[in-house]
Amino acid sequence: MRLLGVIVTVALLAVTPVAQKDKWNKRTPMPMPTSDFTCTTVDQSILCVGGCVEGQVCPDREDLYCFCPNVTREVHAYTPDLDSWGALPSAPRPRYRHAAAALGGQLYLIGGRSTTDELIAEVDVYDTSTGTWETLSSPHDMPIPSSDLAAFLLDSAIHVVGGYDRHYSTLNAHQIFHTGNRSWTKGPPMGSARGDFTAVTIGGKGYVFGGFASDFCHPLDSLEVFDPPPDNDWRELKAMDTPRADKAGVALNGHFMVIGGEQKHSDPSKCEKLSVPVNDVESYSPKDDEWTQMRPIPSERMRFAGAAYGDSVYIFGGQGRLDSNEKPPTHPIYDTVEEYRLCDDGLQNGNELGVDCGGSCQPCTDEDQRTGVVGGDDEVYEVAFGGTQRESEESTSGESIPVGAGGVRLAVALGLIAVAFIDRM
Ligand SMILES: *[C@@H]1O[C@H](CO)[C@@H](O)[C@H](O)[C@H]1NC(C)=O
Ligand SMILES: *[C@@H]1O[C@H](CO)[C@@H](O)[C@H](O)[C@H]1NC(C)=O
Repeated sequence: MRLLGVIVTVALLAVTPVAQKDKWNKRTPMPMPTSDFTCTTVDQSILCVGGCVEGQVCPDREDLYCFCPNVTREVHAYTPDLDSWGALPSAPRPRYRHAAAALGGQLYLIGGRSTTDELIAEVDVYDTSTGTWETLSSPHDMPIPSSDLAAFLLDSAIHVVGGYDRHYSTLNAHQIFHTGNRSWTKGPPMGSARGDFTAVTIGGKGYVFGGFASDFCHPLDSLEVFDPPPDNDWRELKAMDTPRADKAGVALNGHFMVIGGEQKHSDPSKCEKLSVPVNDVESYSPKDDEWTQMRPIPSERMRFAGAAYGDSVYIFGGQGRLDSNEKPPTHPIYDTVEEYRLCDDGLQNGNELGVDCGGSCQPCTDEDQRTGVVGGDDEVYEVAFGGTQRESEESTSGESIPVGAGGVRLAVALGLIAVAFIDRM
């Protein structure tokens, strides 16, 4: 790194503390590396349940797909205020690729698969006040079990949508679990069948986005919203910039962030089997039906979990790109925890999430290259999606000070004060 130039109008710039914001910061790692699990915010904790706890193995044979060698039933609680982890009683069964939702101090686990790849119909409920698990009796089982599904909360109902059936056919099913009487009703199906996708609730509506429909070579970019009764129907909204599956989606401050996820190898003979994680982050504003590019996560990942707490988004674990030096080739599995804290310095420069994120909070830089899908050679996955050009379109009334490609941008506008320095080649 070389300092190329410094333009300083005023030397009054406390970079160090505020640089913590609008930036992915490392936090205490998970007790063990985990992928394909759920992390759900309940009161002061984020409860991370189940998942795959060994690297996903991808045998070097055309007829064999990747599988998880070890599914857990363990539960770990992260306390953001203390940046610490603690163990909770294990869930009734190992489960991964499931959905979870929390309401009134109860955490519901729905769908997913067992160690032997069987679908799980039983609903398990953790009561945070008693610290105990309960399995609902069979009349309360999920009517159409699926894995790699998604769930969103509307009032006291958990809307459980899509996923894969036993044979990995994609579903558009919309099953509604009423927490009051613990019974299920049917809702109108999604416009598209989806698996490996994500759902969030904002302003009394459910949003679903990305995933796979039936073509496992091309993830979806589409976004749909469910308007509850009286509309009681789905509408398609503006698509994401980056198609992807197995990403995290986290709602915060009336927006939601779509983080990382899975794309596929661009070679048609390999794409079904070969997954490629990405590090892209974009955020959606329901008010404007617009997507904004955000600072990418520090490394590509897929099949991980995300949750919001306070003014921060947290991401947990997941899998990285296939390591073909392993025999058999394996997706590495992570224990990392990263926090993205929203800016609150009173300035808006476009790269934010409903609040300000400019000035002394660093905007995106070309340093944060977005990486992902590929072509050609197995070993060479990396492709840069190229910088943060879109960001400048989002800029408001000149608070941000763009500098040339390849430079780090650090823009501050405090009335007349403007500071910019350029780092890196
Ligand atoms: C699965 O992983 C856990 C946690 O690392 C470990 O304790 C356990 O022995 C593993 N089980 C098998 C069957 O490998
Ligand atoms: C359960 O509650 C929901 C919502 O109030 C209602 O629509 C449904 O009919 C109830 N089911 C049963 C079996 O009582």
